[in-house]
Amino acid sequence: MIIVIDGPAGSGKSSTARAVANRLSIEYLDSGALYRAVTLVYLEAGCEEEKFFSLLQKKDISFYYRDQLFHIAIDGSSVTDDIRTAAVAENVSEVAAMPDVRAFVNDLMRDVVKEGIYIAEGRDLGTAVFPDAELKFYMWADLDERAQRRFDERKDKNPDLTFEQVKESIAQRDQKDASREADPLKKADDAIEIDTTAMTFEQQVDEICWKVKQRIED
Ligand code: CDP
Ligand code: CDP
Ligand code: CDP
Repeated sequence: MIIVIDGPAGSGKSSTARAVANRLSIEYLDSGALYRAVTLVYLEAGCEEEKFFSLLQKKDISFYYRDQLFHIAIDGSSVTDDIRTAAVAENVSEVAAMPDVRAFVNDLMRDVVKEGIYIAEGRDLGTAVFPDAELKFYMWADLDERAQRRFDERKDKNPDLTFEQVKESIAQRDQKDASREADPLKKADDAIEIDTTAMTFEQQVDEICWKVKQRIED
């Protein structure tokens, strides 16, 4: 069984999905983290496409969710922290636009969800990866609200960061993700839309948990 949440950066997909997974004791899958890990390989290859694809074929990417964290490793070495750098954020949308990369990541995901109940989040899970998902959500919030959330998360770690920088970076990534040809960010026709702009975190977790529980019991 698979439940999916798609939406733009900062809409709350990842923290909400983790909270739902914890509360209902189900598995969590962060597809963005997989694209970020693949982007590390792209950077390792010096951003040269041919070198990148031959390198990617040789890499073993493993992942699991535990203790509030989606752990990810390449050839056994953890990259859980490395995937959150600015270099990765700047390149990930370009890498994720490559159809061969999407096929690679989709295979990883489809393989792992064969057993158990999963809540997975990303951009194209309801439209392209799991079109038959039991339940689909599309989370959304105004750009200013999403940028403010991301800024609040990052400002202590990086005192030089400005709200405008965060807003610009999120807006650019959204634009690239929504306009690419291969499986762009898009609400599935049968997804439940949740505008979180004026919601509290607890409200959105409650709403999704309620709908998921109903579906599990059906
Ligand atoms: O956490 P945040 O929303 O900032 O980003 P993420 O979920 O970690 O995703 C990083 C990037 O991976 C996105 O900007 C997309 O370019 C790509 N992605 C994708 O193309 N398809 C997905 N299903 C998930 C992520
Ligand atoms: O995964 P995505 O990029 O969609 O968002 P996220 O990484 O979950 O970041 C959303 C941030 O906004 C988290 O720090 C949440 O605690 C916070 N937040 C939220 O998700 N929903 C609200 N209604 C208010 C705050
Ligand atoms: O209920 P439980 O303590 O298991 O989880 P939770 O408090 O609902 O939070 C689950 C995840 O959501 C954690 O990774 C928190 O960091 C995140 N969270 C968040 O980002 N913003 C909040 N306002 C509350 C939780």
